[in-house]
Amino acid sequence: MTARQPDSEAATPSPEQWPDLSLLTRHIIDTHHRYVRTALPSITASLHQLVSQASASAPELMRVREIFVALGEELYAHMAKEEQILFPYIDELAGAKRQGSTPPPSPFGTIANPVRMMEEDHEQALEQVQRLRELTNDYSTPADGTADHRRCLSELAAFDADLQRHTTLENTVLFPRALDLEDGMA
Ligand SMILES: [Fe+2]
Ligand SMILES: [Fe+2]
Repeated sequence: MTARQPDSEAATPSPEQWPDLSLLTRHIIDTHHRYVRTALPSITASLHQLVSQASASAPELMRVREIFVALGEELYAHMAKEEQILFPYIDELAGAKRQGSTPPPSPFGTIANPVRMMEEDHEQALEQVQRLRELTNDYSTPADGTADHRRCLSELAAFDADLQRHTTLENTVLFPRALDLEDGMA
């Protein structure tokens, strides 16, 4: 099964589109996190299958699989931290703002602390994706590549594109606005 990518228009960052940050955290979970959770097992299975059909390009494919599996493990852990720690606190800040009440105490001091950790995770994930791009020559199928090979690379390219949109939305819209929200309520 091919994981369907979230609609790119719906994922385009636009601050006016998110009057309440809890709508944005919900959007990220419902589109990008859901897509990552569907695509990771599907692409991993495709890579296992491709590697098992050994060909001249197998060494690169094995490396691609190794990096992708490691990236997947990191992303599962990363999304869990966002969904269990950072996003719920952003939702609480947004709720306090809505109700004009005092923000709840956070378990991690300023929100800048978990935000910095998430940004570091993003940087690492994007570095790994960059290595995938290099190893596959920008996801181009080798001359002797099969239809399965082509399909797998196009799924990887879609995964790469979604991760760029996902991390950009968090780094350039969600996190700066959450920091502003916290500042404004201090
Ligand atoms: Fe995320
Ligand atoms: Fe993230």
